[in-house]
Amino acid sequence: MKATVIGSGYVGLVTGACLADVGNDIVCLDIDTRKIAMLEAGDVPIYEPGLKELIERNARAGRLRFTTDVQVAVTHGDLLFIAVGTPPGEDGSADLQHVLSAARGIGKHLRGNQVVVNKSTVPVGTVDLVRNAIQHELAVRGTELRFCVLSNPEFLKEGAAIDDFMRPDRIVIGGEEPWGLELLRALYAPFERNHPKVITMDARSAELTKYAANAMLATRISFMNELALLADQVNADIDHVRRGIGSDPRIGTHFLYAGCGYGGSCFPKDVQALLHTGQKHGQPMRILDAVEKANEHQKRVLVEKLVAECGDLSGLTVAVWGLAFKPETDDMRAATSLVVVPELLARGAAVVAYDPVATETAAKELPRSDRLRFAESADAAVDGADALLIVTEWKEFRSPRLERLASALRLKVVVDGRNILDPRQARAAGLTYLCIGRP
Ligand code: UDX
Repeated sequence: MKATVIGSGYVGLVTGACLADVGNDIVCLDIDTRKIAMLEAGDVPIYEPGLKELIERNARAGRLRFTTDVQVAVTHGDLLFIAVGTPPGEDGSADLQHVLSAARGIGKHLRGNQVVVNKSTVPVGTVDLVRNAIQHELAVRGTELRFCVLSNPEFLKEGAAIDDFMRPDRIVIGGEEPWGLELLRALYAPFERNHPKVITMDARSAELTKYAANAMLATRISFMNELALLADQVNADIDHVRRGIGSDPRIGTHFLYAGCGYGGSCFPKDVQALLHTGQKHGQPMRILDAVEKANEHQKRVLVEKLVAECGDLSGLTVAVWGLAFKPETDDMRAATSLVVVPELLARGAAVVAYDPVATETAAKELPRSDRLRFAESADAAVDGADALLIVTEWKEFRSPRLERLASALRLKVVVDGRNILDPRQARAAGLTYLCIGRP
């Protein structure tokens, strides 16, 4: 099938490459000429495991092309995916300017009998806005053409996006027009592998489903984080509690890991956008409000624990392991390190930070300071430091040589924000080991 993906960012590239990989003829569009030039030269502007190889393979086979030409892109596909960003506006609501500009581009060049599929995360009712924007452009052209607009939210996790696309838990499709639904269902058939994955519904419910999924997961995490802080006070172990409750199939085992707060491009933004939708419709979202506040607090817990242990931080050197919001990505959006590092600097500490891939993006996001430098390795970060904070659970931090760590750190203090080290082993090596909700 012929499909076009508008927006060659994270979601757009993964969608385009995976659809091409099962044999479709895909054109990816972006208005950023630099990005398209990079992609044409075989470079991928984001870090996602497996994506570069997937793009290379399909580009070589001629199934995946890149363009900045809106007309070429819009006339190509029988299905036109909108996969552009919806960053939070100043009031926390999702900013739809890129979605609507994509819709206008579609309306200007539509050739008819095309299905527009919105993949961007958008507030309930956006399918109508997209349809109106296209209709308006057709009226300007003085023409009437058959098209429909469907909602098809994505549930990709960074670092595992290709697997999530290739082997989805579910494919949510929202809309009414049978011919459009049929075409989109046929496109997704290769990803169902004999197990029906498509769930069809009206467009508004599909749009709300996306926010509901992320808000529910963020709620679980904030709940566990708060419970972990209580466990600290009553000398219980959140890890035991997690296993104790996760074995109940009604609760389930996933996304119950306490830590130093959730970040990323989705949870914080989607929680805020849903809060905003509630406000707009006169329905206060009291639980979500608390979820967000609890998460903001959680990002400060690491430094609070360090101060409780070491007192005044001025003059101390603190090593930080992990800057990205989670492992296997260089994404720094809403990362806990963006709270931790500035807080350490504000308290007069010097910071030596190490991340396996996010150093470059982090350097742009973190405040400039002569007390902040980046190390080339985890070992180099701790050498000569007083204490260590573990902020992101990269695999290479999971099994450090504890004796080396203890001799490198002057105060021998480790605050583990992701509960990845074994408390008993860490203490046996002579470390003062603090973590989240474990005695
Ligand atoms: C998320 C959703 O999982 C995905 O379905 C959606 O499409 C986009 O948002 P992503 O932001 O890539 O994906 O990351 P995810 O793996 O979900 O982690 C989000 C944050 O939650 C990270 O900061 C992670 O460290 C934190 N987290 C996750 C926890 O603190 N505890 C957990 O148990 C799980």
